[in-house]
Amino acid sequence: MGGMGGIGLRNSWDTKGDTETTKAAAARIPLPRRRETLASPLPAGSAGKILFMKSYNIAVIGGDGTGPEVVREAVKVLDAAAKKFELKLNYTDYDIGGERYLKTGEVLPDSVLTELRKFPAILLGAIGHPGVKPGILEKGILLRTRFELEQYINLRPVKLYDERFCPLKDKKPEHIDFVVVRENNEGLYTGAGGFVFKGTANEVALQESVNTRRGVERCLRYAFDYTRKRNKDKKLTLCGKTNVLTFAFDLWERAFNEVGEQDYKDIKRDYAHVDATTMWFVKNPEWFDVIVTDNMFGDIITDLGAMVQGGMGIAAGGNINPKGTSMFEPIGGSAPKYTGQGVINPLAAICAGQMLLDFLGESAAAKAIENSVIKFTREKIKSLAAGKMGYSTSQVGDMVAASL
Ligand code: IPM
Ligand code: MN
Repeated sequence: MGGMGGIGLRNSWDTKGDTETTKAAAARIPLPRRRETLASPLPAGSAGKILFMKSYNIAVIGGDGTGPEVVREAVKVLDAAAKKFELKLNYTDYDIGGERYLKTGEVLPDSVLTELRKFPAILLGAIGHPGVKPGILEKGILLRTRFELEQYINLRPVKLYDERFCPLKDKKPEHIDFVVVRENNEGLYTGAGGFVFKGTANEVALQESVNTRRGVERCLRYAFDYTRKRNKDKKLTLCGKTNVLTFAFDLWERAFNEVGEQDYKDIKRDYAHVDATTMWFVKNPEWFDVIVTDNMFGDIITDLGAMVQGGMGIAAGGNINPKGTSMFEPIGGSAPKYTGQGVINPLAAICAGQMLLDFLGESAAAKAIENSVIKFTREKIKSLAAGKMGYSTSQVGDMVAASL
């Protein structure tokens, strides 16, 4: 891992005492002390001006199926935002996914993972190839990156932009605006377990949910901080199953109350079983502000969340290591049947780009992208579904970029 140059590596989420954040390290070009300096009289595009621009290195993994198509539009919109907000975004493409695996047998080479650690952020299209047995790419690329880069938060906003796209009767944008903080490194996803007497009538299959105090607590703290920063209802709901998972969610609940009582007295604590949570998503989504939950429950409820906000065409998420390399992706899959037709909806990938900029600290640019997506969703698009948008994939990207 030597020879990484000036970019700080983050191998551990809790590295204390670091003098330089990855974000700052990514901004290789010195920043002006004051914002006004950006309004330099130098002509646009001149080298002098470039010196004053904030610069970020972004790894791009188009991946499988429609992944590369939607990522292309996300990059188009990111570039438009960069131009408007005077940022310099430098992309490095990584050719990872099913095609590469089928050609070379490589899923995610260690060298690529090592390189990815140098970036503050990764933009990912989709993983999943019809020619590859399910599980190989998902585990080998997506889950491995989430785990090894300690992206211990999966942040999934559920926000309805236009009531036309909500499958729930009488629910409007003011009713559907919450965020799920999904634990992303533990639970049922660690791969702990095994078989006994496999293939016989006595077969036993174990799949263990791993919940560590450290892992649970860092997730809870992130969720409390996020709820405070979001400043909406200042309410955090723990979604669990304390009536059945009496070990795992006992730990979650105790940690939730202890941490909340100690350090987040300003945040209201709320609890809902996971089954009840799915009911409320449909019946009363306005109840929620921020939800924190384990990996498996978070996986399941965010697909329902994606549907109530209008479907996979619009739902984005971030795999976040608050002190390291984070990865942003549309929640939907690779949609092989739509590949190459120019009909897939790129808005989810564009929203992933928005979350990426927000993570980098460029909240004004992120907000501008969101506003443009909202405007486009309300005023132009016919449907959020592939093939029914009334526009091609690249037209959607063009229009969102143009109205920034
Ligand atoms: C998701 C996906 C993944 C998950 C799969 C593809 C491994 O469903 O990002 O929600 O289960 O986390
Ligand atoms: Mn999922």
